[in-house]
Amino acid sequence: MRKIFIIGIGAGNPDYMTVQAIGALNKVDVFFIPDKGAEKAALRQLRTEICARFIKDRAYRFVEVQVPRRGEDFSDYKANVLEWHAAIEANYTRLLREDVGENECAGFLVWGDPALYDSTLRIVERIHAQAEMAFDYEVIPGISAIQALAARHRVPLNRIGESVHITTGRKLTEGASNDGGSVVVLLDGEQAFTKLAGDLQIYWGAYLGTDEEVLVAGRLSEVASDIAAIRAERRARNGWIMDSYLIRKPET
Ligand SMILES: C[S@@+](CC[C@H](N)C(=O)[O-])C[C@H]1O[C@@H](n2cnc3c(N)ncnc32)[C@H](O)[C@@H]1O
Repeated sequence: MRKIFIIGIGAGNPDYMTVQAIGALNKVDVFFIPDKGAEKAALRQLRTEICARFIKDRAYRFVEVQVPRRGEDFSDYKANVLEWHAAIEANYTRLLREDVGENECAGFLVWGDPALYDSTLRIVERIHAQAEMAFDYEVIPGISAIQALAARHRVPLNRIGESVHITTGRKLTEGASNDGGSVVVLLDGEQAFTKLAGDLQIYWGAYLGTDEEVLVAGRLSEVASDIAAIRAERRARNGWIMDSYLIRKPET
């Protein structure tokens, strides 16, 4: 039977690979590599580097997955995403049938952890449920951007007895609620942190774990414009940026 490994490769540093992830890597015959523009070119490089470094004495191959363009109509965000996932699912199903032999293993190298803001697992679950093709699948956890951010700033995510809320820039702008604890923000293309009021502490990091890594921490009112400027400059220079932050009321 075919098997799919959904492997968390960590959020940027090949040293984030776990022993379990390396073990799974060494069972894979075919890696599906998504191809999506400049950002993905850099991410693709990390994936191929990881394979070259950690796979020992084993033949493997890469199959490029063309990622379909997303629809432009965001009036119903969830419907837009589901339609996009259906198109990706069709591609994966075809590749599984055509490029993976009956007893071979396929692998998805998922940035960070597969359970966090990544659709691979959701899409593989859907293909599995259709039962058109029998296969087994296994998920290997990875070091997420959130763990990398906390480690690089040397801070715990939560304060004693408080909660941690994980959200996106879009939800933060819409006023995502939390109960006064810490908030971790990913996928913030709109720089939602510049729109927040009140006395807040921010721990920001971009390109975490890579040679380009940049960290800024401080009172939001004092560092927000610096972060916005660094963000714009790095984004222009590299053609892409990945940044995350932890935000909360300062310690009293
Ligand atoms: C689609 S989500 C994927 C998250 C990933 N599965 C994880 O576990 O980290 C992409 C977002 O994760 C965050 N991210 C991922 N890698 C990062 C890195 N190396 N540095 C900073 N943020 C990162 C950014 O907020 C980015 O927009």
